[in-house]
Amino acid sequence: MKYNIAIDGPAGAGKSTIAKKLAADLGYIYVDTGAMYRAMAYYFIQNKIAADNEKAVAEACADVDITIQYKDGEQQVLLNGENVNGVIRNEEVGNMASATSVYPVVRTKLVDLQRQLAQKENVIMDGRDIGTVVLPDANVKIYLTAGSRVRAERRYKELQAKGVHCDLDEIEKDIIDRDYRDMHRETSPLKQADDAVCLDSSNLDIDGVVSEMKKIIQSKA
Ligand code: C5P
Repeated sequence: MKYNIAIDGPAGAGKSTIAKKLAADLGYIYVDTGAMYRAMAYYFIQNKIAADNEKAVAEACADVDITIQYKDGEQQVLLNGENVNGVIRNEEVGNMASATSVYPVVRTKLVDLQRQLAQKENVIMDGRDIGTVVLPDANVKIYLTAGSRVRAERRYKELQAKGVHCDLDEIEKDIIDRDYRDMHRETSPLKQADDAVCLDSSNLDIDGVVSEMKKIIQSKA
């Protein structure tokens, strides 16, 4: 039996940073499911498929093959054999991922892959529907959240550090829009699983969140 930890929550709550750190500390495999939706989205953008054209998205899904590899402990997403890790971390791809992850045809493909990974290894998997849909029997479920302004400020600092010009209010609006779409879609909306522990990271730094998470994991062992 594999030990699985599910972390869900809204955009910018710090899930991937925290999950990556936890996985390294605990010797687990980190599975970033958002990156898989982003890789699909990247394909749709490259092939000029409109996010609101469900039929075209469904047809395109048949041509997409997503596989996961690990290099130096880092998840690599291969889109039809090509490593796309370097091109999926931007707002355009994130917004396309949010718009196209509403379609069941997109989700089914990726949920199957996510479950296969969790069957093979002890994983810390993060996303929006891990505790509710992908791994309903996960040993530990955590819902990581933070206020939208705090999340926007974190993103703003990240972009500034990269030298990208940006506007805090616009980033917050984007985050609020994305939350709304993720929480109100028909298929697998973002919500806290009944048996998940909620952790608000608004007033915690990274080490503080990691330490709180370890306490939660220990309490479930
Ligand atoms: O977490 P990240 O920002 O990389 O995810 C991009 C988008 O992919 C999210 O806004 C969400 O719409 C979608 N997603 C999802 N289910 C997941 C992970 C991500 O619908 N398990």
